[in-house]
Amino acid sequence: MRDERVPLRLGVLVSGRGSNLQAILDMAAKNPGASVVVVVSDRPGAFALKRVEGLGIPGVVAERGIFRNTDDFEAAICEALEKYRVDLVVLAGFMRILSPGFVRRFPRRILNIHPALLPSFPGLHAQRQALEHGVKISGCTVHFVDETLDGGPIIAQAAVPVLSNDTEETLSARILREEHRLLPETILEFVKQSR
Ligand code: GAR
Repeated sequence: MRDERVPLRLGVLVSGRGSNLQAILDMAAKNPGASVVVVVSDRPGAFALKRVEGLGIPGVVAERGIFRNTDDFEAAICEALEKYRVDLVVLAGFMRILSPGFVRRFPRRILNIHPALLPSFPGLHAQRQALEHGVKISGCTVHFVDETLDGGPIIAQAAVPVLSNDTEETLSARILREEHRLLPETILEFVKQSR
């Protein structure tokens, strides 16, 4: 049980533009129960890092290429998460697979958002896979991260229609709107459950 007056400390891992990070920041600005305490990017140029500039939230870069091996890379990420005493790790467009060793350090404490209705279309280019398979409904999934690729326990999903004239861009945009609602809502639910 946690003291309700103390916000749940979120560490957000990103790789790119960070629109899901923005949705989390907007949610945390309105909710005293959750606070983003650190953002870690594996890409130094990620626009996500710009989103926390001037907010007093540290943006840490851990670029895989500058480390000798995956263990050292993940140790740098862990160090940042531990330094800022993160309670919940959120993968918000983080495009790397975390090792079983990393996942075991945060049991049921890592959430991921994926742009498909898992277990369909795990991995890269989920929206393209959905179009190629001709599904009529797709969506997004928030799940706990375990040692499998996009395979951990599902927490929440949102469905969107796939239209006959959809391109990867139009479908991605429709799914993304749902991601921006679903991920913050799921984090808030986690906050409630951990009280
Ligand atoms: C989102 O669509 C997210 O679901 C996806 O990357 C995008 C990141 O956008 N993640 C994955 O595909 C993970 N398998 P954002 O940087 O604007 O939040």
